[in-house]
Amino acid sequence: MAISDVESLKKHLQTAIELEHSTLPPYLCALYSLKDGSNEEARAVLQSVALEEMLHLTLAANVLNAIGGTPVLDSPRLMPGHPTTLPHSDGSIILSLRPFSREAVEGFMAVERPAPTDAVSEDDNYATIGQFYRAIEEALVSLSAELGEGALFCGDPARQVTDAAYYGGGGRIIAVSDLDSAKKALSEIVTQGEGIDYQSIFDGDKDMFHPEREEIAHYFRFEQLLLGREFRRGDTPSSGPTGAPVSVDWSAVHPMPVNPKSADYPQGSRTRDAIDCFNGAYCDLLQLLERTFNGLPMLLKNATGAMYGLKQWMIDLMAMDLDGNSIHAGPSFEWVPPAERIFPGTQIWVLPRGPYVMRGDIEVFDAEEKLRKHGGFCVLCRCGGSRTKPFCDGTHARIGFEGAESADHGLMADRRKAYPTADGAIVYDDRTRCAHFGQCTSRCPKAFGVSDDNFVDPTAASTAELQSVVSGCPSGALTFAPAGSATPLEKHQEPSIHPIVDGPYRVRGGIEVFGADGTPYEVRERQTLCRCGQSRNKPFCDGSHWYAGFRDPAPPELVNVDPYPWTEPHAAERGRERYAQEQAAKKAAAEQTPMDGPEAPPLVQA
Ligand code: SF4
Ligand code: FES
Repeated sequence: MAISDVESLKKHLQTAIELEHSTLPPYLCALYSLKDGSNEEARAVLQSVALEEMLHLTLAANVLNAIGGTPVLDSPRLMPGHPTTLPHSDGSIILSLRPFSREAVEGFMAVERPAPTDAVSEDDNYATIGQFYRAIEEALVSLSAELGEGALFCGDPARQVTDAAYYGGGGRIIAVSDLDSAKKALSEIVTQGEGIDYQSIFDGDKDMFHPEREEIAHYFRFEQLLLGREFRRGDTPSSGPTGAPVSVDWSAVHPMPVNPKSADYPQGSRTRDAIDCFNGAYCDLLQLLERTFNGLPMLLKNATGAMYGLKQWMIDLMAMDLDGNSIHAGPSFEWVPPAERIFPGTQIWVLPRGPYVMRGDIEVFDAEEKLRKHGGFCVLCRCGGSRTKPFCDGTHARIGFEGAESADHGLMADRRKAYPTADGAIVYDDRTRCAHFGQCTSRCPKAFGVSDDNFVDPTAASTAELQSVVSGCPSGALTFAPAGSATPLEKHQEPSIHPIVDGPYRVRGGIEVFGADGTPYEVRERQTLCRCGQSRNKPFCDGSHWYAGFRDPAPPELVNVDPYPWTEPHAAERGRERYAQEQAAKKAAAEQTPMDGPEAPPLVQA
């Protein structure tokens, strides 16, 4: 049935959003199943195609917004479970979650198969994506003629996502305001998938990794992998690729099961928890995108950063045997209602060459002390370059951030130096964790920073004064044990992350920190994590931000935008409950008592 009115056109454009999203989970599974150091050509193809599907989703949302529609993304319709079919198609194209394989690539080619030149438009039960978009284009043309272009394109231009928002793939984001720009947006979607026309292998853009080359359409990019040969200039769909060989190692792939489900794994197992957390975080990403397409286009940068966090989650699921029983897993892309998006524990993960992922019931502030996120999952900049601090916006990938860690994973007790006071208390100092804020040397220069060999002179100040200064040390380099005990006492605080202006993250409350290889660091009540990307003791701050001149320009377009309000009541509350239980258990085990001492003054950079 033809699309005969605006409401029907809006529904079809919503289907276009769902269609574009439906290709992402299968592409991402294939991409992140590739083992490190192998299949670089396949990786480049899958990465570029996945990025361009995000562009297509954005373009479909722009067209829907241009005619006054409301894009919906955080919905079970976008996560229907696998196997599934392309939304509203004739059911001939099956979408499955599987590792990179010949079968997977054949499936991708079926999705991207060009529509024959004479194929009729189909607004429902379509065989190729091109036919579906032809039906939408015809409806745009006929409704423009019937209602007038101005009446049809009545959407608020401020809802358009433009190139000003970050996008790093081939093609470009087109702001849609009239029939001409809408047709251009649809054409970009179809040609990137199928090619300029039925006779061409190119899509009219420049290659994202080799800008001197013409970009090859998705269908033919996949064909190169399957046939093991590159297309070159002069090749056509019927000639097939006649260029240089493409090397593909079909065996260098993590053993992800086909179409995994969360329920396949025992409740309470690490694998089940990891899959459930991933699904919750992915749904949060969909919510972030939904807000992006509903009047907050600048949030696309935050969404880009969030994708980097999810990437590592997917790799871990596929690459690691989390429960040690030789069973690997994979992301299941199942929708989780907002109230059930739970992230147990309080953790920060260092991502290789990338940001920090924070999960659990942790309060995250910005450098102006505004609460930006409470509980759940978010991705925090570690390279210092994000334009949406404290959140990552993908800048680290553009600047080639390495971020290798060099900090010791051992216990503070094995590194610290002890300075006994006259009345039996002890001040401990672990130089390897000092962030060089000078809180101690400013407040009590007679006792702290005394010499390189002996940082503390415990005889130069009263025990009460020493204890007060130690309690203000943000990095946890200084600790204090009262008389009669050799164990330093740490005051427990609610888990929180505060970026210090022009400095590191001040992390409080016993948050577990894991290195990029999964190795945990010692759990501490106080620590400072590098935020400028310059520390020589990553992930911890060593004061390098000061020498690097790291600055905190508040991103003006985001100052009044809170991208994460939906996690407030449900996830945070349920996470808090679980957190309270865990903390009670931890406290009982450690038999800690709170440290008494006067409040420290606010931090001042030395
Ligand atoms: S982080 Fe600051 S307060 Fe702590 S030891 Fe270093 S200079 Fe002193
Ligand atoms: S922008 Fe991602 S770590 Fe800085």
